[in-house]
Amino acid sequence: MSDILERLRRMREGDAPTHGGRVLSYVYDSGLDEIDDLADAAARLARPLNGLDPTVFPSIAAMERDVIGFTRRMLHGGRSVVGTVTSGGTESCLLAVKTARDLWRSSHPEHASRRPRLVAPATAHAAFIKAAQLFDLDFDPVPCSPDGVVSASDVIERLGEDVALVVVSAPSYPTGALDPIAEVAAAASARGISCHVDSCFGGFVLPWWPDLPSWDFRVRGVTSISADLHKFGYAPKGVSVLLQRGRRRHRAQFFATTGWAGYPVVNPTLLGSRSASPLAAAWAITQHLGSDGYARLTGSIHRVASAVAAAVEGIPGLRVIGDPTGPAIALGADPSVPEEKRVDPHRLADALVAHGWKIQPQPGLVQSDGVRISHSAHLTLTPVLEQRVGEFIGALAASADEVRGQGQADPRMLLAALRALGYGEGGRVPGPAAAWRLLRLAGAGSVSADQPMSMLMALIEQLPRPVAEALLTELLARMSEP
Ligand SMILES: Cc1ncc(COP(=O)(O)O)c(C=O)c1O
Repeated sequence: MSDILERLRRMREGDAPTHGGRVLSYVYDSGLDEIDDLADAAARLARPLNGLDPTVFPSIAAMERDVIGFTRRMLHGGRSVVGTVTSGGTESCLLAVKTARDLWRSSHPEHASRRPRLVAPATAHAAFIKAAQLFDLDFDPVPCSPDGVVSASDVIERLGEDVALVVVSAPSYPTGALDPIAEVAAAASARGISCHVDSCFGGFVLPWWPDLPSWDFRVRGVTSISADLHKFGYAPKGVSVLLQRGRRRHRAQFFATTGWAGYPVVNPTLLGSRSASPLAAAWAITQHLGSDGYARLTGSIHRVASAVAAAVEGIPGLRVIGDPTGPAIALGADPSVPEEKRVDPHRLADALVAHGWKIQPQPGLVQSDGVRISHSAHLTLTPVLEQRVGEFIGALAASADEVRGQGQADPRMLLAALRALGYGEGGRVPGPAAAWRLLRLAGAGSVSADQPMSMLMALIEQLPRPVAEALLTELLARMSEP
């Protein structure tokens, strides 16, 4: 058996490091070893349980009560706020949308045959595009400024009778912008529209961030909030909380049926059988850290954010995009300097790899009004980074020096070739075999942890969306094909 584990260990050697802060996305290292040990032990204790039925395993309900209670206090929800522990941010967002859609349908019987709309700034997480697809709503993205900032009036203007849900983020993932929550929620409330605050990313940080306007359940029109324990709750993957204002709303989230031949099925979430291990780990961590522990960790993040922002100001040609709040910042080229002095964020991301750091390239997004949200590099700032922020800033400055003036990668040749093959705007969408050929043609037949991404990102930005999506689907699907 030990050889099996040895093989797994060897496979894991190819992974990006999950601890130490060198990967500034996907992983959330508190820097406190004891938290990981505690989470492991708690997860192991809960491993054999099935979260499907807390009447058989009441420890699950007890842990859920504690976790929901902790999150509710943190987000200033009163007794009328109830909720559910889910498997992650996407599931929390999906359930918020499903709930709002069902409530909209029951309160608008006259529109029974109509698809409701989901209004959200274009910077809202892609989970809401997915939710709209799955639950049959029209996704209506509100254009933002090039820096990813949305104006309250642009959102409010779109709130009509057919809107089942408006989503705002606290903060948004792409640029860390805190959306105008109070204004949007008030307008939604006046029109009887559900308003979800997506704080999947920042939910366990913003409650301790200094000097913020109200953005949580203190804002009256906010009807639900999502907050991920497997991000800045520092729990292992597989756990988030969705809080709903009012039992009626919460119950609309459930699926219950006695209409089959087996046991009565009652599911508050999308899954049936589910692991209780992530819940147990999150429960243990929240018990251990308490509000004071999260406050201390948020203090570290705040200091890291200030240090990185100050350092970027001193790096010619690079800038922090917009005015971020919380643990995300996005870096972009500074358009106020001549092109030969600009630092392209994707080139920067590629150069940083050789220095031992990974930041996350984000393609530009051309919105429905023609305004392009700048391409950028996202940085998730975790507490552990405080231990080596000086080293990170040094690598950032050195990498910027290496790529300054290079400009965004130019995929024109590849685009022309794809167009000639019929995959241009309004053209064909490649099936699996063609997509694979095209990927190999683009030199992207495999993606490893430290492969340069500038060209692929530029290509993704400029390809027709259905073609880009088909290529990316193929890339991921091929990775797991036996
Ligand atoms: C704001 C926001 N919402 C939702 C999600 C989706 O969360 P998950 O990846 O846990 O499904 C994320 C993930 O980064 C996020 O940042």
